[in-house]
Amino acid sequence: MNIETDLQAMFAPGFEVNPYIGYAQARVHGDLVHVPSWNSAFAFSIEAVNAIFKHPNASADRMGQMDPNWFGTKLLQPMMLFHDAASHMRLRGLVSQAFTPKAIAETRDAITVLTDELLEFHAKNGGDFLTNVAVPLPMLVIAKLLGLEQVDRAAFRNWADALVVILDGSTYNENDPLKLEQHVAEMFTYFEKSAEMMKMTNASGVLGAMARAEADGQRLSKEELLANAALLLAAGFETTTNLIAGAMLAFAQHPAQWQKLLENPNLTVNATEECLRFVAPVQGTGRLVKNAPIEFRHQTLPVDLNVTLLLGAANRDPKKFENPDAFDITRANAKDHVAFASGAHYCLGAPIARLETQVFLERLAAQYPNFTVPEQHLAYRRNFSIRGLEKLRVNLA
Ligand code: HEM
Repeated sequence: MNIETDLQAMFAPGFEVNPYIGYAQARVHGDLVHVPSWNSAFAFSIEAVNAIFKHPNASADRMGQMDPNWFGTKLLQPMMLFHDAASHMRLRGLVSQAFTPKAIAETRDAITVLTDELLEFHAKNGGDFLTNVAVPLPMLVIAKLLGLEQVDRAAFRNWADALVVILDGSTYNENDPLKLEQHVAEMFTYFEKSAEMMKMTNASGVLGAMARAEADGQRLSKEELLANAALLLAAGFETTTNLIAGAMLAFAQHPAQWQKLLENPNLTVNATEECLRFVAPVQGTGRLVKNAPIEFRHQTLPVDLNVTLLLGAANRDPKKFENPDAFDITRANAKDHVAFASGAHYCLGAPIARLETQVFLERLAAQYPNFTVPEQHLAYRRNFSIRGLEKLRVNLA
């Protein structure tokens, strides 16, 4: 098949249901496929993805390519995700202390209590597992880390959904732009008020720390504060929601693996890595070749080329992972996945996402070992980079 046809299939409606068939078809053209007519390259293998993530000429700043008058550009531009070098380190440094493995380990007890409460609610009430457990668990954890006490779950979900659409871009035109703008405006008003309050009360939490940095007048601007708080909210829960729901489905579809975990709880850490590899909540991200060309093996990627890094495809790289489409919680190299990216932008929230998933699996195994996922139509949200189920019916009792 022609490379352009194979790549076009990746952007067609319905691709999100099972992207792995399309990746397998497209990867026959190479680990890194350069398509000059699209001014793009696509990285399919672990080696190619890691090489680009760590290359000094692969810039995360793609803002120059976006319409400067679009409200989304103004929203995204101050996010650390789109900065390089010193500017990136400044923004990341201001919040990174709250995300060290030690700081996160201290939240284990609170996450355990919350997980138990949410699972118990679902066991009693039934309904959609995402609404009852997979959404509120990471949402309430990130809200607590930010220092927010009162959480309007419906509003938070609307805001994060809007941000994911704007961050991804591929389905923007399928949405109502005014509604997206309205959600962002509401979220900013809420963050601004909360930050003001936290500044006055010297409150703990990430937002309070950011608010004090903003008060300095030097370290952080108001736009940077609001955009990076929004990034933490969106990155902090949509991805983890999709990991938890995807893990639930993977275990339901592979009962022998669930049995193995029940018999050997020590496998929880490796099982979490295998869930990250297998589910890949972030399927892709991008970089721009800047300053000088990038050499990868015999290929030269010219300046100004867009490179799409297909993390979901790399996690199924047959050169790296034996029998890559098998879900195997004893896989020796499961942790070599790139679900959290690599290099300078390696996911800041990786320790918290890992901890939440480990605690979730532990509590599920301890209390609801016989859970079932009934036959149902599985719909995935239309989105190129952030893949996740719309809903999932689960019986815990
Ligand atoms: C399973 C859950 C998660 C996955 C799969 C995930 C994945 C990723 C990936 C792939 C990136 C890099 C994107 C790029 O370089 O273009 C990233 C960055 C980031 N993630 Fe996560 N993430 C998850 C959970 C979280 C959580 C829980 C938080 C916050 C509490 C978070 C906060 C961030 C932030 C702030 C960045 C930007 C880092 C930077 O630019 O330096 N993520 N994440």
